[in-house]
Amino acid sequence: MRVNGAVSLLGLALTAYALKIVPNAYIVEFESSIDLTRRVPPHAAFYAELESAGVSYSVRTEYDVPELFVGTAIELGDASHYQALSSIGGVKAIKPLHLVSRPKPVNIMTWASGENPPYLPDTESTHVMTGVDKLHAEGFTGRDIKVGIIDTGTDYTNPWLGGCFGSGCKVALGWDLVGDAYNGTNLPMPDPDPLDQCEGHGTHVAGIIGANPGNFYGISGVAYDATLASYRVFGCNADSGEDVIINAMIMAYNDSCDVINLSLGGVQGWTSSQGAVVASRLADLGMIVAISAGNDGANGAWYASDPAEGQSVISVASVDNVVTPIQNFTLSDGYGPVPYYQAVPYSIDGPIPFFVTSFNTTNTTDACNPFPDDTPDLSGYVTLIRRGTCPFLTKAANAEAKGAIWVLIYDNIDESSLLAISENNRTMSLISQADGIHIVNAIANGENITATFLQNTVANIANPATGGLISTFSSIGPTYDMFFKPSVAAPGGNILSTFPVNFGSFATISGTSMSSPFVAGSSALLVQAKGRSTSNALRARDLLETTGKVIPASYNDTSILQTAAQQGSGLINVWNAIHYSTLLTPGELLLNDTANFKGDQTIKVFNTGVEKQFYTIKHVPAGTVITYNDSLAINSPLPFSDVTANVHIFPSSFSLFPGQALNVSLKFIPPTAVDPTTFPVYSGYIMVESDSGESLHSSYLGVAGSLATAHIIDNTDAFFGPGNTLPLLTDATGININYTDLAAEYFTMTPDDQPTLYMRFLFGTFLAYVDLVSASLNLEKREASSFRGLPLLGNILELDQWPRSSSATDAADNGFFPFQWNGTCANGSYAANGEYKMVLRALRVLGDPANDADWEAWMSPIFGVNITAGGP
Ligand SMILES: *[C@@H]1O[C@H](CO)[C@@H](O)[C@H](O)[C@H]1NC(C)=O
Ligand SMILES: *[C@@H]1O[C@H](CO)[C@@H](O)[C@H](O)[C@H]1NC(C)=O
Ligand SMILES: *[C@@H]1O[C@H](CO)[C@@H](O)[C@H](O)[C@H]1NC(C)=O
Ligand SMILES: *[C@@H]1O[C@H](CO)[C@@H](O)[C@H](O)[C@H]1NC(C)=O
Ligand SMILES: *[C@@H]1O[C@H](CO)[C@@H](O)[C@H](O)[C@H]1NC(C)=O
Ligand SMILES: *[C@@H]1O[C@H](CO)[C@@H](O)[C@H](O)[C@H]1NC(C)=O
Ligand SMILES: *[C@@H]1O[C@H](CO)[C@@H](O)[C@H](O)[C@H]1NC(C)=O
Ligand SMILES: *[C@@H]1O[C@H](CO)[C@@H](O)[C@H](O)[C@H]1NC(C)=O
Ligand SMILES: *[C@@H]1O[C@H](CO)[C@@H](O)[C@H](O)[C@H]1NC(C)=O
Ligand SMILES: *[C@@H]1O[C@H](CO)[C@@H](O)[C@H](O)[C@H]1NC(C)=O
Repeated sequence: MRVNGAVSLLGLALTAYALKIVPNAYIVEFESSIDLTRRVPPHAAFYAELESAGVSYSVRTEYDVPELFVGTAIELGDASHYQALSSIGGVKAIKPLHLVSRPKPVNIMTWASGENPPYLPDTESTHVMTGVDKLHAEGFTGRDIKVGIIDTGTDYTNPWLGGCFGSGCKVALGWDLVGDAYNGTNLPMPDPDPLDQCEGHGTHVAGIIGANPGNFYGISGVAYDATLASYRVFGCNADSGEDVIINAMIMAYNDSCDVINLSLGGVQGWTSSQGAVVASRLADLGMIVAISAGNDGANGAWYASDPAEGQSVISVASVDNVVTPIQNFTLSDGYGPVPYYQAVPYSIDGPIPFFVTSFNTTNTTDACNPFPDDTPDLSGYVTLIRRGTCPFLTKAANAEAKGAIWVLIYDNIDESSLLAISENNRTMSLISQADGIHIVNAIANGENITATFLQNTVANIANPATGGLISTFSSIGPTYDMFFKPSVAAPGGNILSTFPVNFGSFATISGTSMSSPFVAGSSALLVQAKGRSTSNALRARDLLETTGKVIPASYNDTSILQTAAQQGSGLINVWNAIHYSTLLTPGELLLNDTANFKGDQTIKVFNTGVEKQFYTIKHVPAGTVITYNDSLAINSPLPFSDVTANVHIFPSSFSLFPGQALNVSLKFIPPTAVDPTTFPVYSGYIMVESDSGESLHSSYLGVAGSLATAHIIDNTDAFFGPGNTLPLLTDATGININYTDLAAEYFTMTPDDQPTLYMRFLFGTFLAYVDLVSASLNLEKREASSFRGLPLLGNILELDQWPRSSSATDAADNGFFPFQWNGTCANGSYAANGEYKMVLRALRVLGDPANDADWEAWMSPIFGVNITAGGP
C-alpha cells in the first residue's frame, strides 16, 4: 500500500490509535462469590497463582471494595503470559486497560478578573436556560452536598474557588493520584495535593459546579455552596490510565461524595468497558454519576463514549449557550465601539495604530504569502487582515514572521453572528466586514487612526444562530447494544468559568466537559432539595430526563426535533426536576433493534401534589436519522427521514387524585417505510401534560433494522483507493503483499521486516481476532460449514469491545487500525518458519460468539515467516 507518508509511520506507533490501550496491561476483576470473612485476601491468592504459573507481572492498582469492585490492574512483563493469566481460577473478567482522554475542548478564551458587583438575581445565561437561577433565588445552592471531580485537579488558589484547600475550604478534600509528569503509561507519582496550575480543565469544571458568586463576570457555580472534592487523574499534558480513573471513583465513594463528575472519555460504544461498569455500579449504589457524552459529533451516529456509556450513569450532551462573550475597542475617529470575538481583552495600553496588509477590501489572498521585506516591525501595531482563501493560521504566521503580536481578521462577508477564531493559543480575533472596511478606508484616506482596547469590560451578545440548540460537536449514540446515550443535555458550548490564576483566572471553553459538571452541580441541588438518600439518588436521572425541554434540530424548521441519539431527553430544567408534583417513570424506553424489538412499554404517572390533576398523554416524535449509506456510517449532519414510529397509548387521558398513580400502556410500531440497511435511528418523546401546566416526557429510541446484519469488516477499496482493497496486508515498506510473488513476502520479523495488517471496522464489534492458519486453507470453502473447524495455528491479535472506525484519513483519529505483527503468538512463542495466512474475524453486533454465522471473516494472501536461528 502506498497511500501517503503518514501511513508507514503509524505502524511504529501501535498505541496511537483512537481507542488507546496500555500494552500488556489488564484490569482483572475477581469473582465476588469469594469468602466474605476474607481469611485469604483474594489479591494475595491471585498473585500466588500467577507466580506459580510463572507469570511475570507488576501491580498498577488494587481494588478492594466488596460491594463495588474487587480486583487488580496489572502489567505483564511478557505479553506471552496473557493466556496463563486468563486460565487462573476465581477471575470474573479480564479487560484491556484503556488510556482515557478528556474530551478535547472545542475552544478556549481566557479572561482576567476584575471587580465585584452584587450577585442576586442570578442572570447567568446558562442558569436562566435551566431554571438554576430560580433555585438560587429560593436558596438552593448545594450547601452540605459533596461533589467529587475526577479531572486534571483544581487551582483552588483562585479566590472564586475559595482560595484554599482542606477542611473548611470550598475544595475541602481530594488527592493527586498521578503527579505532573504522568501520561497514562509511566509510573504515577501521587501526592495529597490536587492543585492544577498547568492544565486548567479541572479548574474550569470546578467553577461550573461551585464558583463563588459576586465576581466581576456575574457567573457562579450551579451549586456554589457545595463542598468540592478534587481527584487529579491527569498529568500536565496527556492521557490517563483507566485503572487510575477507577481508583479515583473508589476514592470518591470512600469519601462519601453525593455526586461525581467525569469530564473525560473516548469513543468506545459498548456499555461493558471496565470503567463504564464501575461507574454504573457506583450509580446503582446511590452516587449520582455525571459523565461527558464526548465531542465526536462530527463522526455521526454510533459513536458513544466510554465511560459515559455505563448503563446507570448520566451521559451528558452539550447545548450551545444563548450568548457569546465579546470585547470592544474604540477608534480615534469616533467610530465604534467595534466588537471583537475574544473573552480576554487584548492587553494593550493606550492607543495603538493599525498596519493594513492590503488596501484592496476585496483581496481574496490577503496575507496568504510572506510579507514583503520592507514591512516594518509589526509589534507596535494591530495587524488588520481580510478573511479568505488561506487558513487563519497562515495569515497569522505571516504576520508573526514580521513581529506581529496582535492580529484582527475582518470578515469577507456580511454575517450576523460571528464566532471566536480558535487556532491554538494565537491571539487573533474576528471583526465584522463593515468595521474592517471602515478602518482600511480611513487609513487609505490618510487618516492617522488608532484603536483603544477597553480593559476590564465584559459583555455578551446573543447567539441567535445556535444558542439553545445541541452543539454540533456533541457525540451521537446510541451504544452498539442499544442503550440510550446520551441521557440528558446541558449548556456546554461557550461556557465562562474559573481558570488557573496564572492563566487569567477565568476562561470560556466549549465541550461536553462543560455540560457534564453542569449536571453534577444540578444533581447537588437535587440532593439538597429532595434529601440525601439512596432512593433519591437512584431517581435523579429519571427526574432530570423527564422534566427537561426537548430541542429542535435547527431554527429553520423547529417542527423537527433533534434525534434523541444526540440530545438524549433534552435540555435539563432543574427547577422542574425539583418542583414538579408529577413523577414520571421510567425516563428511557429502550426499544432495541427490529430483531430484539421491545415494542410494549409502560410508563407510570404519579401525582404527588395536593390537587387533583388531569393528564393528557401525547406522542411527539423526534427526527428519524439515517445513519448508514451502503455499509458506511454517515458523518454529521445526519439526514432526516420523514417517517417516524407510531404509538398506541392507553389511556391517553385521565385524572389522578393526590397520591394516586396510573400505569399507561404504550405499543410502539417502528417506522417501516425506511431502508433497514441505512440503520435508521428513530426516537421521540411520550409527553405527559397536566392541566396544572406541568409537562413531562419519557424518551424512546430504537433502530429500524437488525444490527446483526450490519457489515463489520470493510472489504472494499473505497478508503485507500483502487488496488488497496481492505483488509490489507503490507510489508514494512508499505507494499501490498501479493501471493503471486512469494519470494518477496517472507518476513524475518526483525523490527524493520514485519507485516502490517490494515483494518477498518464499519460497525462496532464486541470481539475480533486475528489468527494464523495454514497457507493451504481456504476460508470461502469452509465458511459455510464450520468456521471454527479451521485449525487455528496461533492467535496474534484480540480486540475487545471495539468501536467502529471514523472516516478520518489517519489512524490517530480512528480512521483505520494498523496492526504490525512481530511474529509472536498469544502463547508467547514465535510462529514456526513456514507459510501462513491470517484470518481476521469480527463478531457481528448483538451476535452470539458461539454461533459461527454471527462472525464475519476475511483471509489474507499467503505470506512467509523466516526467522533466522536465534530469533529476529
Ligand atoms: C510483540 O508484540 C506484542 C503485542 O502485539 C508485544 O506484547 C510483544 O512484547 C512483542 N514482542 C516483541 C519481541 O517485540
Ligand atoms: C510517557 O512518559 C514516558 C517517560 O516518562 C515515555 O517513555 C513514554 O513514551 C510516554 N508515553 C506516552 C504515551 O506519551
Ligand atoms: C482586489 O482584489 C480582487 C481579488 O483579487 C481583484 O479582482 C481586484 O481587481 C482587486 N482590486 C484592485 C483595485 O486591485
Ligand atoms: C492582496 O494582498 C497581498 C498582501 O497581503 C498583496 O501582495 C496582493 O498584491 C494583493 N492582491 C490584490 C489583487 O490586491
Ligand atoms: C502557545 O503554544 C506554543 C506551543 O504550541 C507554546 O510554546 C507557547 O508558549 C504558547 N503560548 C502561550 C501564550 O501560551
Ligand atoms: C499618529 O498618531 C499617533 C498616536 O496618536 C502619533 O504618535 C503619531 O505621531 C501620529 N502620526 C502621524 C503621522 O500623525
Ligand atoms: C461593546 O459594544 C456594543 C455595541 O457595539 C455594546 O452593546 C456592548 O455592551 C459593548 N461591550 C462592552 C464590553 O463594552
Ligand atoms: C438489545 O438486545 C440485545 C440482544 O438481546 C441485548 O444484548 C441488549 O442488551 C439489548 N439492549 C437493550 C438496551 O435492552
Ligand atoms: C438554515 O438556513 C440557513 C439559511 O437558509 C442555512 O444556511 C442553514 O444551513 C440552515 N440550517 C439547517 C440546519 O438546515
Ligand atoms: C498481484 O499481482 C498480480 C500480478 O502482478 C496482479 O495482477 C494482481 O492485481 C495483484 N494483486 C493484488 C491484490 O495486488
